[in-house]
Amino acid sequence: MLASDGEKHTQLRRVLSAQLAPRAIRHLVGTVTTRAQRLVDEALAEADQFDAAALARRMVSDTVMAQMGLPEETREPLLAGAAPTFDVFGADNARTQRALPIASQMVDFLHQTITRETVVSESWMGAIFQAVDEGRLDESDAIPLASAYTAASMDTTILGITEAIAQLAKHPRQWELLRAEPTRATAAFHEALRLEAPIQGFGRLVAQPTDIDGVRIDRGEQVWLLYGSAGRDPHEWGADADDFNIRRRRPDRHLAFGGGPHLCAGIHLAELQARAVLRALAARCTRLTIRGEPVRVLNNLLRGWGHLPIAAELGPRGPSASINAAAHACERGTAS
Ligand code: HEM
Repeated sequence: MLASDGEKHTQLRRVLSAQLAPRAIRHLVGTVTTRAQRLVDEALAEADQFDAAALARRMVSDTVMAQMGLPEETREPLLAGAAPTFDVFGADNARTQRALPIASQMVDFLHQTITRETVVSESWMGAIFQAVDEGRLDESDAIPLASAYTAASMDTTILGITEAIAQLAKHPRQWELLRAEPTRATAAFHEALRLEAPIQGFGRLVAQPTDIDGVRIDRGEQVWLLYGSAGRDPHEWGADADDFNIRRRRPDRHLAFGGGPHLCAGIHLAELQARAVLRALAARCTRLTIRGEPVRVLNNLLRGWGHLPIAAELGPRGPSASINAAAHACERGTAS
């Protein structure tokens, strides 16, 4: 999907557009909020320390598995194959070479495991098979499309949520602000994405000769779009571009979700999950501190934490975890 253009791209993108539209995502608010509260309670149950990356991984994989309607045995192979799928977009280095067989094994595995009989019919995968049955999608595109959605939705959101927790732990005043005004959870997520874009960049082929800031780029040249760098551009964000500020005006202007016809298809779902986790944490923890050594994910494209040890100071349970569909719409600016 990401590498298609024109009509083919429109055809592929249309298959799940209704499932990812704000209206459909509003229906998930209750389930996703409850899931986040349960996972945060579990993470804080045994000790006052937890791995934020593991919490985000559980949250996102549970959501994606449920929405895709995939059999449980696909969870681990999908999680294992998603990051290498991003590695192969990178430069042709040793990491790409190591990732290529893993990424293709994941697609082979999905071909063998996913059938009309093994998926839940009321799901994204059900909708993909329905599009095939109605002649809107080639049978040969069904599994690659499912694989594109699962790869695109896993590590990106996991790294984004983990980064938001890292930033809030590093900036206690911003954490206090979020606890006082939980509706700023979406802004906190966007600030984290702006500063540390989970996908740092993508390559593109230039379709027509163009000029960017006095630099001529010819048709057919390959360019590298640096989403991560754009988020810190002082011309756009001002002298405090490097600061984490959840009160920043329109923090969602960053390019961490790309732009144009290929703009990320999962923005509303990513926001919903991040908001639910941040608000569930804000309702329980008066303070977060990074305790121990965080470990970076090493990937040709992805940036973020694979392990983020967080010490939490617990307080009485606050009201900030509860978001309902109306509050979700207001926070997103989608209320009618
Ligand atoms: C924080 C989380 C996420 C980030 C940072 C992110 C980032 C991106 C970026 C940079 C692109 C490329 C855009 C371009 O080329 O202009 C993209 C495309 C895409 N994303 Fe996301 N994404 C996230 C979450 C999700 C989720 C949750 C889903 C699925 C539900 C998803 C599905 C897709 C798809 C299908 C595309 C390809 C769109 C197309 O080619 O038309 N993403 N995403």
